[in-house]
Amino acid sequence: MRVEVVGIGAGDPDDITVRAVSVLGRADVVFLLDKADAAGELMALREDLAARYAPQARVVRGADPDRDRVSPGYTAAVDDWRARRADVCAEMLGELGEGETGAFLVWGDPSLYDSVIAVLEDVRSRGACFELGVVPGISSISALAARHRTTLNQVGGAVQITTGRRLAQGWPDGAEDVVVMLDARCAFLNFPDAEIRWGAYVGMPGEILIAGRVSEVGADIQRARERAREANGWIMDSYLMRKPAR
Ligand SMILES: C[S@@+](CC[C@H](N)C(=O)[O-])C[C@H]1O[C@@H](n2cnc3c(N)ncnc32)[C@H](O)[C@@H]1O
Repeated sequence: MRVEVVGIGAGDPDDITVRAVSVLGRADVVFLLDKADAAGELMALREDLAARYAPQARVVRGADPDRDRVSPGYTAAVDDWRARRADVCAEMLGELGEGETGAFLVWGDPSLYDSVIAVLEDVRSRGACFELGVVPGISSISALAARHRTTLNQVGGAVQITTGRRLAQGWPDGAEDVVVMLDARCAFLNFPDAEIRWGAYVGMPGEILIAGRVSEVGADIQRARERAREANGWIMDSYLMRKPAR
């Protein structure tokens, strides 16, 4: 048995790679693992790609369990969550017959803020026997930089990919540029002199792009973000920020 973790790009169906298309064309089963509350559009893109590039495959869906964020024992809660996710994946993999290939469709690139590879390694460490392959995808970061027609780093410089929660603790040491994902609280507002290139729903219908100095566009981004989240019921946004010149 073989399992491929396939990056599908971050929302634009044209961003799927030739390698991903060829792996999907050979898959016997396509696995769709989603949060129970995932937005319909995100599910729909995966379903469309499966129907278009893997019409021969059976589709197996699983619900990604939520993490317990309230109980005081952090490590125990994370261990429990990982075990429950491994349970779900192990059950999904039960649909894969001897000698067959299954493909998990993963948003963007599987190497970036995604846990499917780790969960499948957990399943293997429990004794399940399958080969594991990963097909890189175009990440939301690559898509964001391209839409703003810019680079992530400046000449010879370092860029750090981080989360809004970490950025809220301060600008990372040693990085001139930061790429920020998973920021529901607009941590960029702490850096009024920085240059920001922000994007929501990048590559999808309803894409919004805003760029400028945070002191000038920060409030616009915050408003646009809030309006879009209310209108759609969900939002996925990320941004690149350049350190303020000293
Ligand atoms: C759990 S991470 C997954 C990242 C994904 N593996 C990737 O390669 O882009 C989800 C975060 O990615 C960013 N993201 C994903 N798709 C996006 C899009 N189309 N536009 C803007 N940001 C996006 C957002 O910061 C979102 O909160």
